[in-house]
Amino acid sequence: MDYLQIKKADSLHGNIKISGAKNASLPLIAMTILAKNCVSIKNLPHVADINTLLKLLSNLGAKCSSLWGDEENITTVDTSSLTQTKATYDIVKTMRASILVLGPILARFGHCEVSLPGGCAIGQRPVDLHLKALEQMGAVINIEAGYIHAIAPNGLKGCNIIFDKITVTGTANIVMAAALAEGVTTITNAAREPEVVQLCQILNESGVKIEGIETAVLTIHGTNGKLLEIDEFSVIPDRIEAGTYLCAAAITKSELTLNGANAKHLGAVLSKLEEMGSRFTITENTITIHPSDVIKHVKIVTQEYPAFPTDMQAQFLALATQAEGTSIIEERLFENRFMHVSELQRMGADISLNGNVATVNGKSKLSGTDVMATDLRASSALVLAALVADGITDVHRIYHLDRGYDSLEKKLQNVGADIKRLRE
Ligand code: EPZ
Repeated sequence: MDYLQIKKADSLHGNIKISGAKNASLPLIAMTILAKNCVSIKNLPHVADINTLLKLLSNLGAKCSSLWGDEENITTVDTSSLTQTKATYDIVKTMRASILVLGPILARFGHCEVSLPGGCAIGQRPVDLHLKALEQMGAVINIEAGYIHAIAPNGLKGCNIIFDKITVTGTANIVMAAALAEGVTTITNAAREPEVVQLCQILNESGVKIEGIETAVLTIHGTNGKLLEIDEFSVIPDRIEAGTYLCAAAITKSELTLNGANAKHLGAVLSKLEEMGSRFTITENTITIHPSDVIKHVKIVTQEYPAFPTDMQAQFLALATQAEGTSIIEERLFENRFMHVSELQRMGADISLNGNVATVNGKSKLSGTDVMATDLRASSALVLAALVADGITDVHRIYHLDRGYDSLEKKLQNVGADIKRLRE
C-alpha cells in the first residue's frame, strides 16, 4: 500500500489549482441516468470515488469515457445503453454515495436494487430519509438480504416532502427522482450545499423547472417520464479541497494563492480563518491567503451549509494544535468523526475529547512519527500536522485520501513541501 512521507516544511509559496468538487461530481454523474443524450462533463476531479461511480454506471451498461488532461479533462457518459438496475455490494461497500443512483434509476426504469451502503468510519449514516421520501412518491420499498428493493409500479408521483434532518445526498436523490416524476414535488428542509445547488441549476437548464434553488424549500416540476437533454457543463470547484489548502497555508504561515477557487462557497471557513488571524485577497476565481505569525484559538460548531462544514472539522482541529490558547471544536453531524484526534495526540497534540466536543490546548510542539489515516478528511488533517511536525511523518492507509483529493502530494510539492508518495 502507498504511504506519504512528509518532512517539516519551511514556508510554502506559489499557486495551487483547485480541482472540481467530488461531492458535486457524484450526483452530477448519477444525473446522467435521467438523460437521453450522451452527457459531457468537464472538470471532474481525478479521484477514486469518481472512478468508482463511473465503474458502477459502466457495470449497469452505460458507456463512460474520460480524457484526463493537465489543463482540462472531459468525461462523457451515455446511459442510453443502461439496462441493468442493480447496484451490487462489491461497489457500494467501497463508496456509500452509490446510493445516489437509486432515485434516478427508479425514476427512469420503475425498479431498482441497491445494496445498503452500511455504516462507515465516521458514523452509522443511515439512508432512511431517502427511502421514506421515495415511498411518499409512490415507491414500494423492501429491504432484504442487505439490499434495497424499490419498485414504482405506477411511476413516481410528485408530493410534499419534509426532511426530518437536512441530508445532502438525500436532497440530491429526491431532486433527481422528482425530475422525472408526474406532477410537482416540494422538498422542505432541503440541503443548500453548493453541490446540491449546481445539480438543481443543471436540471433546471435541462427542462426540469425547479424553484427555490439555493433555499431550503425546493419545488420541482417533473417531466412525467420524459428523458432530459443535458448540455455540456463544468463541475464547480471543490470548496473542501480549497479549505484544506488554506489550512495548509495557515498552519505553515505561508502565503499561497488558490486558482479556480470560489470564495462564495467558503464563507464560514474564511470567517474562522480570519478569526484565527489570517487575511485574504479575493478575486472572482482566486483566493490568496496572508497568514498571521500568531495563530489565535477558535470556537467551531459544525452544521449544515452555509454554517461551518463538518468536512473541514478535522483540518481545523489540526490547525488549532498550533494556535495560542484553548480551542473548542464541536462535531454535530456525525457521531464518530474524531478519529484523527488519537493520531494527532501521538504526534504530541494536547487534545481532550468529551463526547462530540474536542478541547485543543495550543500551541503544541508536534513530532513526526508513523500515523494512520482513518477516513478521508482525517487523512488531510494528518498531512497538515506533518507539515509542521519536527522530523519525518509517514502517513499510512492513504487510500482514504485518494478518495477525495486530486494529486495532493504533487500540488503540495509544487509549492515547496517535502512530501513523497512511497510504497510499503
Ligand atoms: C454528504 O454526505 C457528503 N458526501 C459528506 O462528505 C458530508 O460530510 C455530508 O454530506 C454532510 O455535509 C457527499 O456529498 C458524497 P447527510 P451525506 O445525508 O449526504 C443523517 C466527504 O468528506 N442522515 O447530509 O451522506 C446522517 O447520519 C464526505 O466528502 C440520516 O439520519 O450526509 C448525518 O448525521 C464525508 N438519515 C446527517 O443526517 C438519512 O437518510 C447528515 O448526513 C440521511 C442522513
